[in-house]
Amino acid sequence: MKKLVVFPARSLQGIVEIPGDKSISHRSVMLGSLATGKTNLNHFLNSADCRSTIKIFKKMGVKISQKGNQVTIRGTGLNSLKPPIGMLDAGNSGTTARIILGLLSGQPFTSRLTGDKYLRRRPMKRVVAPLTQMGARISGPDHGNLLPLKLEPRGLIGISYRLPVASAQVKSALLLAGLFADGKTTVLEPTPTRDHTERMFSSFSIPFEKSGNKISIQGPIAPFRGRTIKVPGDISSAAFFIVAGLIMPNSKLVLKNVGINPTRTGLLDALKKMGAKITLSPKKARKGEEPVADITVNSSELRAVQVGGDIVPRMIDEFPVFAVAATQAKGTTIVRGAGEMKVKESDRILMMASTLKKMGADITPTADGWFIKGPTPLKGCRLSSCGDHRIAMSLAVAALIAKGPTTILDTENIDTSFPGFEKKFKSIRK
Ligand code: S3P
Repeated sequence: MKKLVVFPARSLQGIVEIPGDKSISHRSVMLGSLATGKTNLNHFLNSADCRSTIKIFKKMGVKISQKGNQVTIRGTGLNSLKPPIGMLDAGNSGTTARIILGLLSGQPFTSRLTGDKYLRRRPMKRVVAPLTQMGARISGPDHGNLLPLKLEPRGLIGISYRLPVASAQVKSALLLAGLFADGKTTVLEPTPTRDHTERMFSSFSIPFEKSGNKISIQGPIAPFRGRTIKVPGDISSAAFFIVAGLIMPNSKLVLKNVGINPTRTGLLDALKKMGAKITLSPKKARKGEEPVADITVNSSELRAVQVGGDIVPRMIDEFPVFAVAATQAKGTTIVRGAGEMKVKESDRILMMASTLKKMGADITPTADGWFIKGPTPLKGCRLSSCGDHRIAMSLAVAALIAKGPTTILDTENIDTSFPGFEKKFKSIRK
C-alpha cells in the first residue's frame, strides 16, 4: 500500500504546470472516438481514470495511440463502435461509468460495464432511470443502481428530463444518448453545472440548442469530423496548490495554464470572498477552446464565509481542500447544500470531518456540509486517504502547516486524477 509522508513546510515558492483537465480529457476521448477521421488531443490527462476511458473505446474497436499527454484517435464514425468482448471496465472513474452509460445505451449491441470495488458501490440509478425512460434496457444489482450493469440494444427515443440533482455527469450521459435517439432530448438543469460537453459539441460542430437552463439535441445526429483539442490544466488539481499557497505564510505560487471555465471556478470565488490574494492572467483562447489563465496565489489572512446555492456545483470537487482552507479562516465557515459530496469517491462530508478533526480542526459535519471554526493549529498524525484521491491531496495540503509529520495511507488513488502530484508538491517547498 502506497503512503505519503508530509513534513511541515516553512514557505512555498515556484511555478507549477497543472496536468490536463480530467472532465475534458474523458469527453475528448468519447467524442473523438465517435468522430470521423483523426482527433489529436494535446495535454491529455494521462491518469488512471482517463486511461480507463481510452481502454473502453479500444475494446470497442477504436484505434487510439497514446504517448504520455499526447493522444491520437482514429475515429471511424458515429455508428461504427464494435461489440466489445468481455466486460468494459471504468476502474475508479465515476465520470467514465456514468457518461458512457448514455453512449452505450444508444449502441446496437449488448455491453457490460463494471468498475473497481469503490465504483461498484456508487449509485448509477441517476443515469439509469432517465436512460430507461428513453427506452434503454439496463439491468444489474440493486435494480440497476450498481455496477456491473448489462446494456441490451434498444432504439432510444428523445425525452425531456428535469435533473433532480445538479449533475454534469447525468446531463452529459443524456446528451450523449441523445446523439443516437430518435427525436429531441432535452435536459433541464436546476443549477448550471460544468458545460464541457456542450462546449465540446460546439467544437465538433454537433448541433444543439441551449437556452437558459435548457439544453436540447435533435437526434440522431449527422456524422461529424475529428479535430485537434488542447486540454487545459485542471482547476480541480490546481486547487490543492491554490489553498497550499494561501494558508502557508511567506508563499507565492504561479499555476500555469489552468482552465477557468466559469462553471468550474466556484472555489476561486469563495476564496476571494474570504480575502484570498489570487490573481488571474488570462491567455488568449482560440475559437472553440476552453478559457485558460495562469493563476498566482500569495499567502493570505482568510476570513470565514458561508457557501451554498448555485456556487456548489461550481466547486463540487474542491470542497475537501476548501475545508482545509476554512480551518485557517477567522470565524465559522458554513457549507450548505453540498450533500452530493456524500456520493463522490468517498463520503467526503464525513471523511474530511473525521480526518481534519484528528489533526485538531474544529469541524462539524452536517447532512449537506460542515461548520468549520477557525483558525485552529493542526497537528501531524497518521491518516487514511479513505480510498479517495482528493481527500489524500487535501490532507497533504493540511499537513504542510501541521506540527510534526503527517502520514497519509493508501495514496495510490492520487494517480486517478493527478499523476506526478508528489513530485510537484515537493518541488515548491522552500
Ligand atoms: C464531473 C462531474 C461532477 C464531478 C466529477 C466530474 C464530470 O460529478 O464531481 O468529478 O466530468 O462531469 P457530478 O456530475 O456527479 O456532480
